Amino acid sequence: MTRFLLAASACVSVMVAQGATGQGADVLLNCSTCHTVGSGSSMDAATQRVPSPYPNLNGQPVRYLERQLEAYRTGLRQHPQMQATATALGDGSAAMARMYADAAPPKLALQGDVSAYLEAQKLIAEGDWSRSLPSCASCHGINEEDRARLAPRLHGHPEGYLARQLRAYADGTRQSDTMGRMRSFASRLTDAEIAALAAYYAAWRVEGAGSTDENEDQPDG
Ligand code: HEC
Ligand code: HEC
Repeated sequence: MTRFLLAASACVSVMVAQGATGQGADVLLNCSTCHTVGSGSSMDAATQRVPSPYPNLNGQPVRYLERQLEAYRTGLRQHPQMQATATALGDGSAAMARMYADAAPPKLALQGDVSAYLEAQKLIAEGDWSRSLPSCASCHGINEEDRARLAPRLHGHPEGYLARQLRAYADGTRQSDTMGRMRSFASRLTDAEIAALAAYYAAWRVEGAGSTDENEDQPDG
């Protein structure tokens, strides 16, 4: 943990020197303020903002992370603050992507009543061929340990974040999926399905973490 944080702050100060100009760049570039770098163990859970309203980047595929930073920079993904961050980071993206990809993924467990998530689980495990919807798990994995090489882990992401991403693919404002497949899948999901899928993946929480409702303080800036 300490090692990663040191690596994070070292990278950050280099980036600020190289690319960032405007005021507040040091805040935007202090990635670990929002994306904790660490093992996600229950010891870390005690010190994390739990559950975090920000996507957890630890252990995500390196190519995926790099592509997202690029997408914020080029406007294929829209979020004013992360666009400013990615622009200021510039060439530093590769190093940050590598650092998060190398960090241990969080240890997650499904919390709450499994039977509340049957609709989502059916879509995830089987898809719906009547609508040409493949199973989400075929690319994203069936549980948090089933790691995909290209598709990001969805388990443990904040509910509001996941629902927003699916809506952004569906309405075409998120275009970071180079082949347009997530746009096409998401556009075939109903609002209720998006809500159910987001709730299910978000119900996977860091072991030992509390269960406050993270939707209350979703950042959207
Ligand atoms: C003030 C909080 C904050 C800081 C600081 C911050 N981020 Fe983010 N980050 C966010 C939010 C919020 C999102 C989700 C944005 C969206 O909805 O697209 C995000 C999304 C991301 C994503 C996409 C995640 C995914 O699962 O697709 C990456 C990659 C990322 N940030 C990397 C970084 C890096 C690298 C830094 C430091 C240079 C950084 N962030 C600094 C809040 C922050
Ligand atoms: C053919 C493989 C494939 C299938 C099937 C698939 N996905 Fe994806 N998904 C991807 C890839 C690849 C990405 C990254 C795209 C990008 O860079 O924007 C992604 C991205 C996402 C994201 C954004 C994650 C983040 O951290 O921002 C969400 C949410 C998501 N998928 C949900 C789903 C759901 C729900 C299903 C099932 C209905 C599904 N996906 C089916 C491959 C797939």
